[in-house]
Amino acid sequence: MQILDGKKLSETILSELTEEIIRFKSSTGITPCLAAVLVGDNPASQIYVSNKEKTCRKIGVESRLFRLPATTTTEELLILIEKLNTDSEVHGILVQLPLPQGCDELRVLDAINPKKDVDAFHPENVGLISQGRPRYLPCTPYGIQQMLVRYGIETSGKHAVIVGRSDIVGKPMALMLVQKQSPQQTGADATVSVVHSRTKNLHEMTRQADILIVAIGHPHFLTAEMVKPDAVVIDVGINRLSNGKICGDVDFDTVKEVAGAISPVPGGVGPLTISMLMLNTLRAADFNR
Ligand code: GUN
Repeated sequence: MQILDGKKLSETILSELTEEIIRFKSSTGITPCLAAVLVGDNPASQIYVSNKEKTCRKIGVESRLFRLPATTTTEELLILIEKLNTDSEVHGILVQLPLPQGCDELRVLDAINPKKDVDAFHPENVGLISQGRPRYLPCTPYGIQQMLVRYGIETSGKHAVIVGRSDIVGKPMALMLVQKQSPQQTGADATVSVVHSRTKNLHEMTRQADILIVAIGHPHFLTAEMVKPDAVVIDVGINRLSNGKICGDVDFDTVKEVAGAISPVPGGVGPLTISMLMLNTLRAADFNR
């Protein structure tokens, strides 16, 4: 059984990026700049955003953080987004999700300049991904794709089963895995199934998977009986237990006895998400200069 070490992989990607950013700065005189908007005080979002800031500093990306109270209205947010859209010093814009109740998430995401949309949540970018000509790839599925590519995990003709149908992970991951493989390696030629909370015989479906990607948001949801021997298991969950510990959606201790490869939580997909955000920000700087 192989551990898919996302932390180590993210360090490799970040050190490659650091070099690339030095070259970009010296050839253009431009420092890539990411604007992050954090509304309210969701504890998980606070952690994500502070990790993003730390990583920006580490690799030479300028980070601007806009912290707004939970009472912020959609209209107020739209005004800020418009300011960031037209600020030529800002290359990438990220609005941390979820937004507090009362904010219209879709209206806010629709307002982001798609060329600065480093999360790839704007419908134009989602459309481009579905057509197999992505401008940006969403950071978590992109991180998983890098994990598969860099660990040499064959995807062509394999059955990938994705557990969860969110706009952030499940749906874009399915689009990317089913796509024809290309020289940029953003497609994977996999046979893809998406299962979710209303799927009948979910266990039977997951047991057919060569590659299992679990993003359903329930601690220890995936147990050993749901996994085919030697399957590759990728855990996207980040759940906080009542004892304060972080755990994934996969029951790691039992599943690792069955799986051929497995990503841990923490130290799996999470760090890769941030690395891919940094890569998207560098691309955005090149794109919007
Ligand atoms: N909330 C959970 N994951 C993400 C992400 O990748 N981007 C944003 N903006 N919000 C999130």
